[in-house]
Amino acid sequence: MSDLLKLKKINLKYQTGKESISVLKNIDLTIKKKETVSVVGESGSGKTSLIMLVGGLEKPTSGKIIFQDQEITNLNEDEVSEIRKKNIGIIFQSFYLIPNYTAVENVALTLELNNFKKPETEAKTLLDRFGLKHRFNNLPSQLSGGEQQRVAIARAIAMKPELILADEPTGNLDTENSLMISDILFKYVKEEGSSLIMVTHDPKLANKAKRKIKINDGKIK
Ligand SMILES: Nc1ncnc2c1ncn2[C@@H]1O[C@H](COP(=O)(O)OP(=O)(O)OP(=O)(O)O)[C@@H](O)[C@H]1O
Ligand SMILES: [Mg+2]
Repeated sequence: MSDLLKLKKINLKYQTGKESISVLKNIDLTIKKKETVSVVGESGSGKTSLIMLVGGLEKPTSGKIIFQDQEITNLNEDEVSEIRKKNIGIIFQSFYLIPNYTAVENVALTLELNNFKKPETEAKTLLDRFGLKHRFNNLPSQLSGGEQQRVAIARAIAMKPELILADEPTGNLDTENSLMISDILFKYVKEEGSSLIMVTHDPKLANKAKRKIKINDGKIK
């Protein structure tokens, strides 16, 4: 399988006042097309920081990130966001849905912004696929945690991204909903042939991925 993503000698430091803390240290990582990878590690080890870097939401202090044979570390914010919109879907622990938009509107917005012809129809198809046909017109506040996360996943995959990043996607859910969400994610990834990088504290969930990476004190073990 060919490479989708390469991290080369990535360092990330955060500056807080006069102090600089080194969060990721000399990370080398290659993710292949269709590969599923879980990322585990203690709280504060740098897992979310890694997701932010790969998603282009944060810039490394040094090192190179190459996505689909293109170096993204030397692009400006607009260029990176263009690549992200089309190719990368991100799912967070707290779902970050737009509170005054319905389930359908939350998903349709992404499609609209990408000039899809029939955003609403497509949004409904996706939500239906995730068992939310009866919740199309509900606001996030009217949905359970598991339902909100399913809307967030539908939104993240609406553009059929090559890469899905998930940061503790089941972190706010009970066991039953965690199982459902992880089933949906892995089934989707398998069907569509996308790659997945998923941060999780849940050993069972971590084991669903083909490869498991452990971050310890900013380094990959
Ligand atoms: N914007 C920031 N400015 C300064 N320090 C930060 C910033 N973001 C994160 N950090 C620090 O970087 C380190 C790694 O944070 P990160 O969020 O990547 O950890 P994590 O592995 O995701 O932890 P958790 O499992 O608790 O989510 C932590 O020590 C954190 O305090
Ligand atoms: Mg985190």
